Amino acid sequence: MSSAPPTEIPTIELGVPGDKVKVPRIGFGCMGLSSTYGASDDGESLKTLNHALDVGSNFIDSADVYGCGHNERLIAQLLRDRRDDVFLCTKFGSAFTEPPPGNTDTFHKFLKGVDGTPEYVLQAASDSLRRLNVDKIDLYYQHRVDKNVPIEETVGAMAELVKAGKVRYLGLSECSAETLRRAYKVHPIAAVQVEYNCWSLDIEQNGLLEACRELGVTVVAYSPLGRGFLTGQIRKFEDLPDTDSRRSHPRFQPESFHHNIKLVEAFEEMSAKKGCKPGQLALAWVLAQDPNLIVIPGTKRIKYLDENVASGQVHISDAENKQIRDIINSIPISGDRYPEVHMKKLDN
Ligand SMILES: NC(=O)c1ccc[n+]([C@@H]2O[C@H](COP(=O)([O-])OP(=O)(O)OC[C@H]3O[C@@H](n4cnc5c(N)ncnc54)[C@H](OP(=O)(O)O)[C@@H]3O)[C@@H](O)[C@H]2O)c1
Repeated sequence: MSSAPPTEIPTIELGVPGDKVKVPRIGFGCMGLSSTYGASDDGESLKTLNHALDVGSNFIDSADVYGCGHNERLIAQLLRDRRDDVFLCTKFGSAFTEPPPGNTDTFHKFLKGVDGTPEYVLQAASDSLRRLNVDKIDLYYQHRVDKNVPIEETVGAMAELVKAGKVRYLGLSECSAETLRRAYKVHPIAAVQVEYNCWSLDIEQNGLLEACRELGVTVVAYSPLGRGFLTGQIRKFEDLPDTDSRRSHPRFQPESFHHNIKLVEAFEEMSAKKGCKPGQLALAWVLAQDPNLIVIPGTKRIKYLDENVASGQVHISDAENKQIRDIINSIPISGDRYPEVHMKKLDN
């Protein structure tokens, strides 16, 4: 099971009333392909992306801000010959200036902050379409809610994009339940993207999961492997490359790491008995929490991609679901899920 080639990825229907599309429940997150978690190599990334399409994991998740435009330009190379094979998702909302070609500087220098003004929405969409070199984005999310702009105004501009045929479905990321309900009144929202994994259960506690269920909105669980932590591949802080953004994340700091690794050890024990990898158990568990949910693990490697896709065949029984819940409840996590500056941007 662990590294065998995938057979079939379970699917669900995503969309809005009257317009639904079948998508795989295990998609592909592209953030790490733009040097977020240490260096990445475009040639290797394209091989992995092509493999994702070959095995049916064609729910491709990008954002304009990943690598400040780099990620979308990379995906444009995939789309050149395979546009029809891809369900293309991207996001706007964290404004930035595009670095000059060949930039080797840290991307943080180019970030400008959250922007949800209608003018910015239209400009950002036009920039993404240019970088991706396509006429239409399948799912367009607001990446972070702009607390200075009423959500009705932002979604109003997003709805204009749908009307103009530039976007098929709308999504929100890291929004509150109240924001989602207000947004939905302006235009149906197809998906909410949020961190959801064994060490981030906020969506269950803040009413967002309930709101998604009520409205029929698909949950897209990001960082489903806990940014790689839950796979057991990272054993200590020093395993993270110097340029890895996780070095600034509270949960990966040495003192928290030392504590949080207990969760991984419990997963390792349970997955060994079950005959799968701990990361596969983590993905299968998230998938088991709601039928209208997709996970979008990210990786640079074909080997990991195959493992992740194979988690679609890992069945979690009710007893195992309870056992995992008990493990999670018995090991309180040390550290916030983002550094303070990013925690403040969440829509609570
Ligand atoms: N909306 C938002 O605000 C937001 C925020 C964060 C992420 N996202 C989206 O969610 C996607 C996934 O999240 P993520 O990349 O943060 O975290 P993740 O998917 O939980 O974990 C990615 C990390 O796990 C490693 N990994 C993947 N599969 C593995 C396996 N089978 N065995 C061992 N290690 C494995 C990867 O290693 P390698 O890369 O070295 O292969 C990478 O370091 C992103 O790519 C992005 O599209 C959205």
